[in-house]
Amino acid sequence: MSRRSTDPPILLVEDKDSLRAMLRLALEAHSHTVIEARDQAEAVQALRSTCPGVVLSDLRLPTGDGFGVLRAAKELDPELPVIVMTAYGSIQDAVTAMKEGALDFLAKPVDPDHLLLMVERALSLRRLAAENVLLKEELASRRGAPQIIGDDPKLKQVTLALQRAAATDTTVLLEGESGTGKELFARALHVLSTRAEGPFVAINCAAIPENLLETELFGYEKGAFTGAAARKPGKFELAHRGTLFLDEIGELPLTLQAKILRALEERRFDRVGGTSSIQVDVRVVAATNRNLKAAVAARQYREDLYFRLSVFPISIPPLRERPGDIQMLARSFIERFCRDLNKKALALAPSAIDELLAYSWRGNVRELQNCIERAVILTEGDTIHARHLNLSAHTDPVVAASEDDDPWSQIDLSGTMAEASRRVLIDVERRKITQALKEASGNVGIAAEILQVSFKTLQAKLKEYQIS
Ligand SMILES: Nc1ncnc2c1ncn2[C@@H]1O[C@H](COP(=O)(O)OP(=O)(O)OP(=O)(O)O)[C@@H](O)[C@H]1O
Ligand SMILES: [Mg+2]
Repeated sequence: MSRRSTDPPILLVEDKDSLRAMLRLALEAHSHTVIEARDQAEAVQALRSTCPGVVLSDLRLPTGDGFGVLRAAKELDPELPVIVMTAYGSIQDAVTAMKEGALDFLAKPVDPDHLLLMVERALSLRRLAAENVLLKEELASRRGAPQIIGDDPKLKQVTLALQRAAATDTTVLLEGESGTGKELFARALHVLSTRAEGPFVAINCAAIPENLLETELFGYEKGAFTGAAARKPGKFELAHRGTLFLDEIGELPLTLQAKILRALEERRFDRVGGTSSIQVDVRVVAATNRNLKAAVAARQYREDLYFRLSVFPISIPPLRERPGDIQMLARSFIERFCRDLNKKALALAPSAIDELLAYSWRGNVRELQNCIERAVILTEGDTIHARHLNLSAHTDPVVAASEDDDPWSQIDLSGTMAEASRRVLIDVERRKITQALKEASGNVGIAAEILQVSFKTLQAKLKEYQIS
């Protein structure tokens, strides 16, 4: 370890002139810059005016003492390393100083080599801490406040509501069709809030089997059930001081709705198998693509929970209702995918823009994003044309078939009405699912989103129709 030209000076607080001069020489011999102080007052003054990187202070001073210097240093910067020097025989003081935040101590008479070693270690610790802060900042800016793209007035209203909600601690309900950006907005809300430094914990209520959901949410105690070998914290606990994102809250089974309601009202819950309840400080953001009001009317959803969740509802309009965003999103996705794929920037042909604007985007922004990704991969020239978007293939298959023949002539109408209808329905569903799976490259989750059914529903259908 050696001194770097960027290293900050060392503040040396020692009242005895001869010792101070000796230590100064030792440090300067290794290219350190030294600032001197003879008592607490001078040290405090120097701390304020010179921003030292390490403080080296005698514990006993003529006015004030090393503890005062230590406190002043820590007040200025809790990470500032302070090394105290203490006379032989007063080790107890050194221990106290370390309890109060001193990095280390040197016993007098001070051995210059030992001193240098300690100072350099302190400086390198400080460099690491500074690098760590920078890395964290860089990471945060990369992961960053997620970028919400679009300038359609309808989206502007949503972002305004989001900013207002971020300033409070209220429960927020994000409503919107699949792929409209509910999760993106939930993350943005977290980053904009005072909880940004805390955790963002997400749980998808539709993706976890009902019998596991409770332990996922609330955790369990050791021995709560067979296999519970150790205590496990739930998402509510993990989100302490941060944000808990309850995704697809509309799929929450009735049995758990009451438990969630209590957790929301009291910020308190029980671990499974636990005997006392746990208090947490979390902001809840819930999302749904299901009309919860209708679910309440159909008695599939508790009204009290609905009211509790919808204190601050934010509804994200589907992409087709904010056409102003389509082009802007498309261009930003083109830029991103070109960068990711190391391609030079691609232009968007007017015909392609027309297709993008005319299309219905049932899968909203996610569908647009997938479409652009595919187009960027397919485009070999420098411009994306309508054919690269492949949007006409997505039009209704019935329309495509009618070109050859009357489609009704191909349908088996034998049997009772119920039987015939059911056959047709099964046929339609099977085709629709196969098509969605193809579009989603076999990803069941994405296919469910395209079809706007829950993951569970789609899984059941896949089994029923033996589609793999
Ligand atoms: N306004 C936007 N700007 C940039 N990217 C967006 C925007 N809206 C959505 N996206 C992107 O679209 C994709 C889908 O968004 P997100 O997952 O947040 O949707 P969602 O509403 O949660 O969908 P689902 O109901 O299917 O879970 C994500 O990759 C997201 O980053
Ligand atoms: Mg989502």
